Amino acid sequence: MLVAPLSGDPGIGLHIARALGAEILGILTRDHPDGELYLRIDGNVEEEHVILVQSMYPSQDRKFVETLLAVDALKRHGASRVDLVAGYLAYARQDKIFLQGEPVSVDALLRSLISAGVERIYAVEPHSRAPEASLGSRFLSIDGVAPLAEAFREDRVDLVVSPDAGGIERAQRLSKIVKAGIQHMVKTRDRHTGEIQMRLASDIDLRGASVILVDDIISTGGTIAAATRILRSAGAEKIYVACVHPLFVGDSHTRIKESGASRIVCCRTVKTRAEGVEYLDPGPHVAGVLARLV
Ligand code: R5P
Repeated sequence: MLVAPLSGDPGIGLHIARALGAEILGILTRDHPDGELYLRIDGNVEEEHVILVQSMYPSQDRKFVETLLAVDALKRHGASRVDLVAGYLAYARQDKIFLQGEPVSVDALLRSLISAGVERIYAVEPHSRAPEASLGSRFLSIDGVAPLAEAFREDRVDLVVSPDAGGIERAQRLSKIVKAGIQHMVKTRDRHTGEIQMRLASDIDLRGASVILVDDIISTGGTIAAATRILRSAGAEKIYVACVHPLFVGDSHTRIKESGASRIVCCRTVKTRAEGVEYLDPGPHVAGVLARLV
């Protein structure tokens, strides 16, 4: 068995290789002068089970193409099986048609990987259950919340809050580990302008409370900043932000800090880093899951 970390992997591949007793396979890439990507496998993969490890950010499209080319190369050079571990699966939020004329982007990506030859796709906290519903046992979600819970071992947590109804199940998972109550917000997004409106699902008095606000992705920080302000106005004393995929576009981390968050804790599922954010390595947890399933 071989483990092949691709260019977006923040180090999860090494943990997987150690846990499975597998060797690391190098995959070389470089850019052609006109911008196309060149890729070559650095080793013999004949009859080998290869686990590719990729995180599709930054440059989601580039990282996706790299993954697709790697699968194609591995299959053409005789790999007996190729699986993919996606630390961050891009395009997972477009998991349905919201407006007439749109694609189901995540389905398009996953299906092309499967037609190229991927047997099974493991994805850390993939936004929703849509890929599992569409691909069945060929797609497996890995919980990204368990590694986050570690950061709150020493803290008193009264409540775990999801900034939208779609994240309730995620917040429930975290609330069970930290032994706290659960609450969610109602978030509506104007699908044309992207503008969001939020409110707590029920009126609660949060005076003096310590709250974890948990989301799968922080991109512009708009959702978390708005939710933090609402929790502050409801009286929360400490607001800890927990997020699985820290994309942090532009000055989003500053925006969140300024909204009143006491801490921002994220899994390191992508390579980029933002100032003032605490990062936890999801590698040991992901490797443990793979060791049980592969
Ligand atoms: C949306 O459904 C996701 O779960 C996140 O809440 C969203 O992607 C966060 O985006 P932003 O940081 O730009 O508000």
